[in-house]
Amino acid sequence: MKKERESWGSRIGFVLAAAGSAIGLGNIWRFPYITGENGGGAFLLIYLFFTFAVGVSVMTSEFILGRSSKLSSVGAFKSKDRSWTFVGVLGVLTPFLIMGYYPVIGGWSLAYMVKSLTGLLKSPDMVDSFVGLISGTWEPLIWMLIYLAMNAVIIARGVNKGIEKASVVLMPTLFVLLIIIIIKGLTLPGSGAGLTFLLKPDFSQVRPSSFLAALGQAFFSLSLAMGVMTTYSSYLGEEESLPKNALIISTMDFSIALMAGLALFPALFAFGLEPTQGPGLVFMVVPRIFQEMGAVGPIFSFIFFAALMVAALTSSMSLLEVVVSYLMDERGMERRKATWLSATAMFVVCIMASLSQGPLADVTLFGLGTLDFLDTITDKIFLAVGGALISIFVGWKLDKDFLYNQFTNNGKSATGFFNIWYNLVKFVIPVLVAVVAISGILSIEQTGVMVTGLVVIAVLAIFSKKL
Ligand code: PHE
Repeated sequence: MKKERESWGSRIGFVLAAAGSAIGLGNIWRFPYITGENGGGAFLLIYLFFTFAVGVSVMTSEFILGRSSKLSSVGAFKSKDRSWTFVGVLGVLTPFLIMGYYPVIGGWSLAYMVKSLTGLLKSPDMVDSFVGLISGTWEPLIWMLIYLAMNAVIIARGVNKGIEKASVVLMPTLFVLLIIIIIKGLTLPGSGAGLTFLLKPDFSQVRPSSFLAALGQAFFSLSLAMGVMTTYSSYLGEEESLPKNALIISTMDFSIALMAGLALFPALFAFGLEPTQGPGLVFMVVPRIFQEMGAVGPIFSFIFFAALMVAALTSSMSLLEVVVSYLMDERGMERRKATWLSATAMFVVCIMASLSQGPLADVTLFGLGTLDFLDTITDKIFLAVGGALISIFVGWKLDKDFLYNQFTNNGKSATGFFNIWYNLVKFVIPVLVAVVAISGILSIEQTGVMVTGLVVIAVLAIFSKKL
Protein backbone atom coordinates (compact mmCIF):
# COMPACT_ATOMS: atom_id res chain seq x y z
CA MET A 1 0.00 0.00 0.00
CA LYS A 2 1.31 3.41 -0.89
CA LYS A 3 1.86 5.74 2.03
CA GLU A 4 0.38 9.19 1.78
CA ARG A 5 2.90 11.52 0.21
CA GLU A 6 4.67 13.84 2.61
CA SER A 7 4.07 17.52 2.13
CA TRP A 8 5.53 20.82 3.28
CA GLY A 9 4.45 22.01 6.69
CA SER A 10 3.94 25.53 5.44
CA ARG A 11 4.35 27.81 2.46
CA ILE A 12 7.33 29.48 3.99
CA GLY A 13 8.81 26.05 4.58
CA PHE A 14 8.76 25.35 0.87
CA VAL A 15 10.17 28.74 -0.10
CA LEU A 16 12.92 28.45 2.44
CA ALA A 17 13.78 24.92 1.46
CA ALA A 18 13.81 25.75 -2.25
CA ALA A 19 15.79 28.91 -1.59
CA GLY A 20 17.98 26.83 0.70
CA SER A 21 18.64 24.48 -2.18
CA ALA A 22 19.38 27.34 -4.53
CA ILE A 23 21.58 29.34 -2.17
CA GLY A 24 24.72 27.43 -1.48
CA LEU A 25 28.32 27.05 -2.47
CA GLY A 26 27.16 28.07 -5.93
CA ASN A 27 26.56 31.62 -4.75
CA ILE A 28 29.42 32.14 -2.36
CA TRP A 29 32.14 29.79 -3.51
CA ARG A 30 31.44 29.39 -7.22
CA PHE A 31 29.86 32.64 -8.43
CA PRO A 32 32.73 34.93 -7.35
CA TYR A 33 35.48 32.85 -8.90
CA ILE A 34 33.61 32.26 -12.15
CA THR A 35 32.94 36.00 -12.32
CA GLY A 36 36.59 36.66 -11.60
CA GLU A 37 37.67 34.35 -14.39
CA ASN A 38 35.24 35.90 -16.86
CA GLY A 39 36.17 39.51 -16.41
CA GLY A 40 33.71 40.90 -13.84
CA GLY A 41 30.96 43.41 -14.63
CA ALA A 42 30.00 42.28 -18.12
CA PHE A 43 29.69 38.71 -16.89
CA LEU A 44 27.47 39.88 -14.05
CA LEU A 45 25.08 41.43 -16.57
CA ILE A 46 24.92 38.29 -18.69
CA TYR A 47 24.34 36.28 -15.53
CA LEU A 48 21.55 38.65 -14.48
CA PHE A 49 19.88 38.13 -17.83
CA PHE A 50 20.10 34.33 -17.67
CA THR A 51 18.79 34.25 -14.11
CA PHE A 52 15.67 36.25 -14.79
CA ALA A 53 14.86 35.58 -18.45
CA VAL A 54 15.76 31.91 -18.53
CA GLY A 55 16.06 30.74 -14.92
CA VAL A 56 12.72 31.95 -13.60
CA SER A 57 10.88 30.46 -16.59
CA VAL A 58 12.58 27.09 -16.39
CA MET A 59 12.01 27.00 -12.63
CA THR A 60 8.31 27.64 -13.17
CA SER A 61 8.28 24.81 -15.71
CA GLU A 62 9.86 22.45 -13.23
CA PHE A 63 7.35 23.47 -10.58
CA ILE A 64 4.53 22.62 -12.97
CA LEU A 65 6.04 19.21 -13.70
CA GLY A 66 6.53 18.40 -10.05
CA ARG A 67 3.31 19.68 -8.57
CA SER A 68 1.04 18.30 -11.26
CA SER A 69 2.53 14.83 -11.20
CA LYS A 70 3.24 14.64 -7.47
CA LEU A 71 6.27 12.63 -8.47
CA SER A 72 9.98 13.23 -8.49
CA SER A 73 12.10 13.81 -11.57
CA VAL A 74 11.88 10.48 -13.38
CA GLY A 75 8.23 9.82 -12.59
CA ALA A 76 7.22 13.35 -13.50
CA PHE A 77 8.39 12.85 -17.08
CA LYS A 78 7.43 9.21 -17.34
CA SER A 79 3.87 9.83 -16.23
CA LYS A 80 3.45 12.34 -19.06
CA ASP A 81 5.40 10.81 -21.93
CA ARG A 82 7.52 7.69 -21.66
CA SER A 83 9.94 8.61 -24.43
CA TRP A 84 10.97 11.66 -22.40
CA THR A 85 11.82 9.66 -19.30
CA PHE A 86 15.50 10.18 -20.01
CA VAL A 87 15.28 13.87 -19.21
CA GLY A 88 14.09 12.83 -15.78
CA VAL A 89 16.88 10.28 -15.53
CA LEU A 90 19.36 12.99 -16.43
CA GLY A 91 17.79 14.88 -13.53
CA VAL A 92 18.86 12.09 -11.19
CA LEU A 93 22.25 11.35 -12.69
CA THR A 94 23.37 14.99 -12.61
CA PRO A 95 22.67 15.50 -8.88
CA PHE A 96 24.42 12.23 -8.20
CA LEU A 97 27.52 13.39 -10.06
CA ILE A 98 27.45 16.81 -8.42
CA MET A 99 27.30 15.00 -5.09
CA GLY A 100 30.52 13.34 -6.18
CA TYR A 101 32.36 16.59 -5.45
CA TYR A 102 30.09 19.05 -3.65
CA PRO A 103 30.72 17.40 -0.25
CA VAL A 104 34.45 17.85 -0.79
CA ILE A 105 33.98 21.60 -0.84
CA GLY A 106 31.39 21.38 1.93
CA GLY A 107 34.13 19.65 3.89
CA TRP A 108 36.57 22.50 3.23
CA SER A 109 33.96 24.90 4.64
CA LEU A 110 33.54 22.75 7.71
CA ALA A 111 37.29 22.62 8.15
CA TYR A 112 37.55 26.40 7.93
CA MET A 113 34.75 26.80 10.44
CA VAL A 114 36.60 24.70 13.02
CA LYS A 115 40.02 26.07 12.15
CA SER A 116 38.78 29.64 12.59
CA LEU A 117 38.82 28.92 16.31
CA THR A 118 42.11 27.06 16.30
CA GLY A 119 44.43 29.62 14.81
CA LEU A 120 43.54 29.79 11.10
CA LEU A 121 43.76 33.57 11.16
CA LYS A 122 47.27 33.44 12.61
CA SER A 123 48.72 31.88 9.50
CA PRO A 124 50.71 34.39 7.49
CA ASP A 125 49.66 33.24 4.05
CA MET A 126 46.05 32.31 3.30
CA VAL A 127 46.91 30.89 -0.11
CA ASP A 128 49.37 28.47 1.47
CA SER A 129 46.98 27.40 4.19
CA PHE A 130 44.25 26.70 1.68
CA VAL A 131 46.45 24.70 -0.66
CA GLY A 132 47.89 22.87 2.34
CA LEU A 133 44.44 21.77 3.46
CA ILE A 134 42.98 20.61 0.17
CA SER A 135 46.06 18.83 -1.11
CA GLY A 136 46.31 16.62 1.96
CA THR A 137 45.27 12.99 2.00
CA TRP A 138 43.40 12.16 5.18
CA GLU A 139 42.40 15.52 6.49
CA PRO A 140 40.14 16.65 3.64
CA LEU A 141 38.71 13.14 3.43
CA ILE A 142 37.65 13.21 7.05
CA TRP A 143 36.00 16.63 6.75
CA MET A 144 34.20 15.44 3.65
CA LEU A 145 32.99 12.31 5.40
CA ILE A 146 31.61 14.28 8.34
CA TYR A 147 29.90 16.70 5.99
CA LEU A 148 28.35 13.95 3.87
CA ALA A 149 27.19 12.06 6.95
CA MET A 150 25.33 15.15 8.16
CA ASN A 151 23.44 15.19 4.86
CA ALA A 152 22.53 11.55 5.14
CA VAL A 153 21.33 11.85 8.73
CA ILE A 154 18.99 14.69 7.84
CA ILE A 155 17.64 13.13 4.67
CA ALA A 156 17.09 9.79 6.36
CA ARG A 157 14.66 11.55 8.72
CA GLY A 158 12.43 12.74 5.88
CA VAL A 159 11.29 15.89 4.19
CA ASN A 160 9.60 18.11 6.70
CA LYS A 161 11.28 16.87 9.82
CA GLY A 162 14.76 17.34 8.48
CA ILE A 163 15.04 19.76 5.62
CA GLU A 164 12.55 22.35 6.71
CA LYS A 165 13.90 22.83 10.21
CA ALA A 166 17.49 22.98 9.07
CA SER A 167 16.71 25.66 6.49
CA VAL A 168 15.23 28.24 8.82
CA VAL A 169 18.03 28.92 11.26
CA LEU A 170 21.34 29.86 9.76
CA MET A 171 20.28 31.38 6.43
CA PRO A 172 19.42 34.77 7.96
CA THR A 173 22.74 34.65 9.79
CA LEU A 174 24.57 34.26 6.53
CA PHE A 175 22.80 37.30 5.17
CA VAL A 176 23.79 39.49 8.11
CA LEU A 177 27.38 38.30 8.02
CA LEU A 178 27.71 39.06 4.34
CA ILE A 179 26.60 42.61 5.05
CA ILE A 180 29.21 42.95 7.77
CA ILE A 181 31.89 41.63 5.44
CA ILE A 182 30.81 43.96 2.65
CA ILE A 183 31.07 46.97 4.93
CA LYS A 184 34.44 45.89 6.24
CA GLY A 185 35.72 45.22 2.73
CA LEU A 186 34.60 48.56 1.39
CA THR A 187 36.45 50.43 4.11
CA LEU A 188 39.79 48.86 3.18
CA PRO A 189 42.11 51.18 1.26
CA GLY A 190 42.23 50.32 -2.43
CA SER A 191 38.88 48.52 -2.45
CA GLY A 192 37.35 50.83 -5.09
CA ALA A 193 39.03 48.94 -7.91
CA GLY A 194 37.12 45.85 -6.84
CA LEU A 195 33.80 47.63 -7.07
CA THR A 196 34.69 48.85 -10.54
CA PHE A 197 35.70 45.34 -11.55
CA LEU A 198 32.40 43.87 -10.39
CA LEU A 199 29.97 46.59 -11.38
CA LYS A 200 31.41 48.26 -14.46
CA PRO A 201 30.80 46.12 -17.54
CA ASP A 202 33.80 45.78 -19.80
CA PHE A 203 32.61 43.73 -22.75
CA SER A 204 36.09 43.32 -24.15
CA GLN A 205 36.62 40.80 -21.34
CA VAL A 206 33.77 38.58 -22.50
CA ARG A 207 34.64 35.42 -24.40
CA PRO A 208 32.06 33.29 -26.24
CA SER A 209 32.54 30.67 -23.56
CA SER A 210 31.46 33.23 -20.95
CA PHE A 211 27.88 32.82 -22.11
CA LEU A 212 27.93 29.11 -21.39
CA ALA A 213 29.65 29.81 -18.10
CA ALA A 214 26.88 32.27 -17.17
CA LEU A 215 24.14 29.88 -18.24
CA GLY A 216 25.70 26.96 -16.41
CA GLN A 217 26.21 29.10 -13.33
CA ALA A 218 22.59 30.30 -13.41
CA PHE A 219 21.24 26.74 -13.69
CA PHE A 220 23.64 25.44 -11.07
CA SER A 221 22.90 28.24 -8.66
CA LEU A 222 19.13 28.03 -9.09
CA SER A 223 19.28 24.23 -8.72
CA LEU A 224 17.66 23.83 -12.13
CA ALA A 225 17.68 20.94 -14.57
CA MET A 226 18.61 18.62 -11.75
CA GLY A 227 15.29 17.35 -10.62
CA VAL A 228 15.52 19.35 -7.40
CA MET A 229 12.82 21.87 -8.10
CA THR A 230 10.64 19.19 -9.67
CA THR A 231 11.03 17.01 -6.63
CA TYR A 232 10.51 19.77 -4.06
CA SER A 233 7.41 21.08 -5.80
CA SER A 234 5.95 17.58 -5.86
CA TYR A 235 5.35 18.10 -2.15
CA LEU A 236 3.65 21.45 -2.76
CA GLY A 237 0.00 22.36 -2.25
CA GLU A 238 -2.42 23.29 -5.05
CA GLU A 239 -3.06 26.85 -3.95
CA GLU A 240 0.52 28.11 -4.34
CA SER A 241 1.35 30.46 -7.22
CA LEU A 242 4.18 28.75 -9.07
CA PRO A 243 5.61 31.72 -11.04
CA LYS A 244 5.52 33.91 -7.97
CA ASN A 245 7.49 31.41 -5.95
CA ALA A 246 9.97 31.02 -8.79
CA LEU A 247 10.50 34.76 -8.94
CA ILE A 248 10.95 35.09 -5.18
CA ILE A 249 13.45 32.23 -5.02
CA SER A 250 15.45 33.49 -8.01
CA THR A 251 15.61 37.00 -6.61
CA MET A 252 16.90 35.73 -3.30
CA ASP A 253 19.47 33.58 -5.05
CA PHE A 254 20.71 36.37 -7.27
CA SER A 255 20.93 38.79 -4.34
CA ILE A 256 23.11 36.47 -2.31
CA ALA A 257 25.45 35.90 -5.26
CA LEU A 258 25.73 39.64 -5.80
CA MET A 259 26.39 40.15 -2.11
CA ALA A 260 29.11 37.51 -2.18
CA GLY A 261 30.68 39.40 -5.07
CA LEU A 262 30.46 42.66 -3.16
CA ALA A 263 31.97 40.97 -0.13
CA LEU A 264 34.91 39.51 -2.02
CA PHE A 265 36.07 41.74 -4.85
CA PRO A 266 36.70 45.02 -3.02
CA ALA A 267 38.73 43.19 -0.37
CA LEU A 268 40.51 41.13 -2.98
CA PHE A 269 41.72 44.21 -4.80
CA ALA A 270 42.62 45.90 -1.53
CA PHE A 271 44.85 42.93 -0.68
CA GLY A 272 46.42 42.99 -4.14
CA LEU A 273 45.25 39.49 -5.10
CA GLU A 274 44.26 38.47 -8.63
CA PRO A 275 40.54 38.00 -9.40
CA THR A 276 41.41 34.88 -11.37
CA GLN A 277 42.27 32.96 -8.21
CA GLY A 278 39.99 30.03 -9.13
CA PRO A 279 38.09 27.76 -6.75
CA GLY A 280 40.06 28.84 -3.70
CA LEU A 281 38.89 32.44 -3.90
CA VAL A 282 36.50 32.57 -0.97
CA PHE A 283 38.86 30.59 1.26
CA MET A 284 41.78 32.87 0.48
CA VAL A 285 40.05 36.24 0.69
CA VAL A 286 37.50 35.99 3.50
CA PRO A 287 39.88 34.90 6.27
CA ARG A 288 42.14 37.81 5.37
CA ILE A 289 39.28 40.24 5.86
CA PHE A 290 38.72 38.77 9.29
CA GLN A 291 42.43 39.00 10.05
CA GLU A 292 42.03 42.74 9.73
CA MET A 293 39.43 42.75 12.47
CA GLY A 294 41.76 41.84 15.30
CA ALA A 295 40.48 40.02 18.37
CA VAL A 296 36.92 39.47 17.14
CA GLY A 297 38.18 38.12 13.81
CA PRO A 298 38.19 34.44 14.72
CA ILE A 299 34.65 34.57 16.05
CA PHE A 300 33.33 36.25 12.93
CA SER A 301 35.28 33.83 10.80
CA PHE A 302 33.79 30.90 12.70
CA ILE A 303 30.25 32.18 12.21
CA PHE A 304 30.85 32.94 8.53
CA PHE A 305 32.13 29.48 7.69
CA ALA A 306 29.42 27.89 9.84
CA ALA A 307 26.83 29.79 7.83
CA LEU A 308 28.53 28.85 4.56
CA MET A 309 28.55 25.24 5.64
CA VAL A 310 24.83 25.35 6.43
CA ALA A 311 24.08 27.06 3.13
CA ALA A 312 26.00 24.26 1.46
CA LEU A 313 24.19 21.68 3.54
CA THR A 314 20.71 22.83 2.55
CA SER A 315 21.85 22.59 -1.07
CA SER A 316 23.51 19.21 -0.95
CA MET A 317 20.61 17.80 1.04
CA SER A 318 18.41 18.67 -1.89
CA LEU A 319 20.75 16.87 -4.27
CA LEU A 320 20.73 13.79 -2.08
CA GLU A 321 16.94 14.01 -1.73
CA VAL A 322 16.51 13.83 -5.50
CA VAL A 323 18.40 10.58 -5.72
CA VAL A 324 16.65 9.20 -2.64
CA SER A 325 13.17 10.12 -3.80
CA TYR A 326 13.90 8.49 -7.14
CA LEU A 327 14.83 5.25 -5.39
CA MET A 328 11.71 5.50 -3.25
CA ASP A 329 9.21 6.47 -5.96
CA GLU A 330 10.51 4.35 -8.80
CA ARG A 331 12.34 1.53 -7.09
CA GLY A 332 10.09 1.10 -4.09
CA MET A 333 13.00 1.40 -1.68
CA GLU A 334 12.53 2.47 1.89
CA ARG A 335 13.79 5.99 2.77
CA ARG A 336 16.55 5.00 5.15
CA LYS A 337 17.97 2.34 2.94
CA ALA A 338 17.81 4.60 -0.11
CA THR A 339 19.62 7.34 1.79
CA TRP A 340 22.50 5.29 3.06
CA LEU A 341 22.92 3.48 -0.22
CA SER A 342 23.14 6.72 -2.21
CA ALA A 343 25.37 8.40 0.34
CA THR A 344 27.79 5.50 0.26
CA ALA A 345 28.04 5.61 -3.52
CA MET A 346 28.58 9.37 -3.38
CA PHE A 347 31.25 8.90 -0.74
CA VAL A 348 33.26 6.68 -3.06
CA VAL A 349 33.20 9.26 -5.85
CA CYS A 350 34.02 12.03 -3.38
CA ILE A 351 37.15 10.18 -2.27
CA MET A 352 38.46 10.39 -5.81
CA ALA A 353 37.42 14.03 -6.10
CA SER A 354 39.13 14.96 -2.85
CA LEU A 355 42.35 13.14 -3.66
CA SER A 356 42.39 14.74 -7.11
CA GLN A 357 43.39 17.97 -5.35
CA GLY A 358 46.61 16.47 -4.06
CA PRO A 359 47.96 12.91 -4.01
CA LEU A 360 46.05 11.80 -7.10
CA ALA A 361 46.44 15.01 -9.07
CA ASP A 362 48.01 13.04 -11.89
CA VAL A 363 45.13 10.64 -12.28
CA THR A 364 43.08 12.27 -15.00
CA LEU A 365 40.17 11.47 -17.25
CA PHE A 366 40.51 13.16 -20.63
CA GLY A 367 43.01 15.55 -19.11
CA LEU A 368 40.91 16.53 -16.10
CA GLY A 369 41.17 15.45 -12.47
CA THR A 370 38.05 13.85 -10.98
CA LEU A 371 36.72 17.05 -9.41
CA ASP A 372 37.16 19.13 -12.54
CA PHE A 373 35.81 16.36 -14.72
CA LEU A 374 32.60 16.09 -12.68
CA ASP A 375 32.20 19.84 -12.62
CA THR A 376 32.72 20.22 -16.35
CA ILE A 377 30.50 17.41 -17.49
CA THR A 378 27.61 18.45 -15.23
CA ASP A 379 27.89 22.20 -15.50
CA LYS A 380 28.83 22.58 -19.13
CA ILE A 381 26.89 19.72 -20.65
CA PHE A 382 24.14 18.12 -18.58
CA LEU A 383 22.74 21.34 -17.16
CA ALA A 384 22.53 23.16 -20.45
CA VAL A 385 21.15 20.21 -22.40
CA GLY A 386 18.76 19.31 -19.56
CA GLY A 387 17.51 22.88 -19.31
CA ALA A 388 16.82 23.08 -23.04
CA LEU A 389 15.03 19.73 -23.00
CA ILE A 390 12.85 20.68 -20.04
CA SER A 391 11.60 23.78 -21.78
CA ILE A 392 11.04 21.93 -25.05
CA PHE A 393 9.08 19.28 -23.21
CA VAL A 394 6.93 21.75 -21.34
CA GLY A 395 6.46 24.08 -24.31
CA TRP A 396 5.78 21.50 -27.00
CA LYS A 397 4.57 18.33 -25.34
CA LEU A 398 2.19 19.63 -22.71
CA ASP A 399 -1.23 20.96 -23.41
CA LYS A 400 -1.58 24.74 -23.35
CA ASP A 401 -4.78 24.73 -21.28
CA PHE A 402 -3.20 22.43 -18.75
CA LEU A 403 -0.21 24.76 -18.50
CA TYR A 404 -2.48 27.77 -18.16
CA ASN A 405 -4.34 26.19 -15.30
CA GLN A 406 -1.12 25.23 -13.54
CA PHE A 407 0.57 28.57 -14.11
CA THR A 408 -2.39 30.64 -12.98
CA ASN A 409 -3.95 28.19 -10.50
CA ASN A 410 -7.06 27.92 -12.67
CA GLY A 411 -7.16 31.57 -13.56
CA LYS A 412 -6.69 32.82 -10.01
CA SER A 413 -3.26 34.48 -10.20
CA ALA A 414 -0.55 35.82 -12.51
CA THR A 415 -2.82 35.46 -15.55
CA GLY A 416 -1.21 38.41 -17.33
CA PHE A 417 2.18 36.74 -17.35
CA PHE A 418 1.13 33.46 -18.84
CA ASN A 419 1.62 34.35 -22.49
CA ILE A 420 5.04 35.86 -21.94
CA TRP A 421 6.17 32.81 -20.06
CA TYR A 422 4.60 30.41 -22.56
CA ASN A 423 6.33 32.01 -25.53
CA LEU A 424 9.62 32.20 -23.71
CA VAL A 425 9.47 28.53 -22.81
CA LYS A 426 8.19 27.37 -26.18
CA PHE A 427 10.28 29.45 -28.58
CA VAL A 428 12.95 31.63 -27.03
CA ILE A 429 14.56 29.48 -24.36
CA PRO A 430 15.03 26.29 -26.39
CA VAL A 431 16.75 28.23 -29.18
CA LEU A 432 18.76 30.45 -26.87
CA VAL A 433 19.90 27.65 -24.60
CA ALA A 434 20.65 25.39 -27.55
CA VAL A 435 22.82 28.03 -29.23
CA VAL A 436 24.70 28.79 -26.04
CA ALA A 437 25.00 25.11 -25.18
CA ILE A 438 26.21 23.98 -28.60
CA SER A 439 28.75 26.75 -29.04
CA GLY A 440 29.90 26.33 -25.47
CA ILE A 441 30.12 22.56 -25.64
CA LEU A 442 32.13 22.77 -28.84
CA SER A 443 34.54 25.10 -27.08
CA ILE A 444 35.26 22.64 -24.28
CA GLU A 445 38.94 21.97 -24.69
CA GLN A 446 38.74 18.36 -23.62
CA THR A 447 37.05 16.65 -26.55
CA GLY A 448 36.83 13.43 -24.55
CA VAL A 449 34.68 15.10 -21.90
CA MET A 450 32.41 16.51 -24.56
CA VAL A 451 31.99 13.19 -26.31
CA THR A 452 31.40 11.33 -23.04
CA GLY A 453 28.71 13.77 -21.99
CA LEU A 454 26.86 13.54 -25.27
CA VAL A 455 27.16 9.77 -25.44
CA VAL A 456 25.73 9.45 -21.93
CA ILE A 457 22.74 11.55 -22.92
CA ALA A 458 22.22 9.51 -26.08
CA VAL A 459 22.44 6.22 -24.21
CA LEU A 460 19.94 7.44 -21.63
CA ALA A 461 17.60 8.57 -24.37
CA ILE A 462 17.68 5.15 -25.96
CA PHE A 463 17.40 2.97 -22.89
CA SER A 464 15.36 5.01 -20.42
CA LYS A 465 12.07 4.23 -22.14
CA LYS A 466 12.15 0.79 -20.59
CA LEU A 467 12.50 2.10 -17.06
N1 PHE B 1 22.21 25.53 -6.11
C1 PHE B 1 23.19 25.00 -5.22
C2 PHE B 1 24.27 26.01 -4.96
O1 PHE B 1 24.20 27.09 -5.44
C3 PHE B 1 23.82 23.76 -5.70
C4 PHE B 1 22.85 22.82 -6.17
C5 PHE B 1 22.87 22.47 -7.47
C6 PHE B 1 21.90 22.32 -5.33
C7 PHE B 1 21.92 21.64 -7.93
C8 PHE B 1 20.95 21.49 -5.81
C9 PHE B 1 20.96 21.16 -7.13
O2 PHE B 1 25.20 25.73 -4.28
